[in-house]
Amino acid sequence: MNVLVSGGTGFIGSHTVVELMAGGHNVIIFDNFYNSKRDVLDKIYRISGRRPVFYECDMRDEDALRRIFVENDIDAVIHFAGYKAVYESVEKPLMYYENNLGGTFVLLRLMKEFGVSRLIFSSSATVYGIPEHCPVKEDAPLYCLNPYGRTKLMIEDILRDVAAADSSFSVVLLRYFNPVGAHPSGLLREDPNGIPNNLMPRVIQAAKGQIPRLSVFGDDYDTRDGTCIRDYIHVVDLAKGHVAALDYVADSTGAVAVNLGTGNGYTVLELINTFMNVNHVNVPYEIVGRREGDSPSVYADAALAKELFGWEAKLTLEDMVRDALRGAEADG
Ligand code: WQD
Repeated sequence: MNVLVSGGTGFIGSHTVVELMAGGHNVIIFDNFYNSKRDVLDKIYRISGRRPVFYECDMRDEDALRRIFVENDIDAVIHFAGYKAVYESVEKPLMYYENNLGGTFVLLRLMKEFGVSRLIFSSSATVYGIPEHCPVKEDAPLYCLNPYGRTKLMIEDILRDVAAADSSFSVVLLRYFNPVGAHPSGLLREDPNGIPNNLMPRVIQAAKGQIPRLSVFGDDYDTRDGTCIRDYIHVVDLAKGHVAALDYVADSTGAVAVNLGTGNGYTVLELINTFMNVNHVNVPYEIVGRREGDSPSVYADAALAKELFGWEAKLTLEDMVRDALRGAEADG
């Protein structure tokens, strides 16, 4: 299929583009490099031996996006593009609503205009808020603690309504848990612009001496070692989940939400210790106070992805920490 990938030079987008091309799909990317770098395109080529078609543009620029639909016969869209920093969204909510929702409206209008009726949306486990039970199933209550998460949930609701109104429209809402790791080649990795908020990039910074130590946000939670539990999933497994979802979306209608997680939960200290043991490096850290809004434990019920897509995560926490550091070292 000819697949349009919004935000395709980002962390998850770029890994997904590599797997799409490995699966024989033709890829068209648009991105504005808000949270990625242009050299990712060369790295995709070095891994895949093929170049995706690329347009540098903002998803709110309707004329620029229309040109993409005119120049390419698009069969499906995978929509990654959007601001994703939780804490930034609390400080700048309007920027998040205007960009994430506004861009999605433009994309949906053009999909309708050009008869493109298959969409995979990059959603997030953040729509579960602080889940009461783990593993979390897709029918768990949905609510959000921050504007970023609310944009994800609002877009999910919009897509459910559009699919309900148009029986030809097929949507899969992929709810990611905690994507980490990097492509085994070391060429693609999580490389956010600015200061990272997420755990793994901070672990790497501490391991490389770029920060004096990692702050562990609380060890007084009701978990096996007092630190929070999360469902870390290798970004390559996550990318393959999108390719599997694409085959499903081609033959279905309506909208369905599906977890992409491993079904396993690891604590912060377990991740740090695994990182140190596998990579034979030290990660200096100190326990500090809890971070506002953190959930003690979030990990996926991953059964629906297996049932619908025949997909399940295969890579281990050891693979994740090894590939994460290799990717960081490859870039120096
Ligand atoms: C994981 C654990 C922290 C940093 C967020 C978003 C979610 C999704 C994934 C986009 C927590 C602890 C972290 C640090 C720490 N993003 N931690 N020291 O919060 O589970 O999810 O990223 O879709 O939407 O909410 O991920 O990596 O920030 O934190 O101790 O310097 O690591 O307290 O327990 P989170 P995270």
